[in-house]
Amino acid sequence: MSNIQLSFASLPEGKPQKVALGDKDVCVARIGDEVFAVADMCTHSEASLSEGDISNYKIECWLHGAEFDLRSGEAKTPPAVESLETFAVSRDGDTVTISSK
Ligand code: FES
Repeated sequence: MSNIQLSFASLPEGKPQKVALGDKDVCVARIGDEVFAVADMCTHSEASLSEGDISNYKIECWLHGAEFDLRSGEAKTPPAVESLETFAVSRDGDTVTISSK
C-alpha cells in the first residue's frame, strides 16, 4: 500500500489537483472541509479529470461531459459507464493522507 501526504491548506476549494501516488495519478478534490480522491483518468477515454469541474459532489470530465460521484467513484452520466477507482483519505489537522485501498 502506498500513500502520500498533502497540506489541507494547499488544496483550493472546488479546484481539483492531480497528484502522483506511486505509479498512479490521483485526482484530489476538496469540498468544504472534506477531501476526496479518485483515479485521475476518465474511464471513458484519455482525459485527466483534474481538469474538470466539480459541482454537487460530482466531477465532470471536460472532454465528453461524463460525471462521476467523488464519494463513490460511480459513473453517473454517459458516456462513461465504468466507475473510477477511489482512494482512502484521512485528515489530521493540516495533514491529508491519501492511500491506495
Ligand atoms: S473522456 Fe471523459 S467523458 Fe469521454
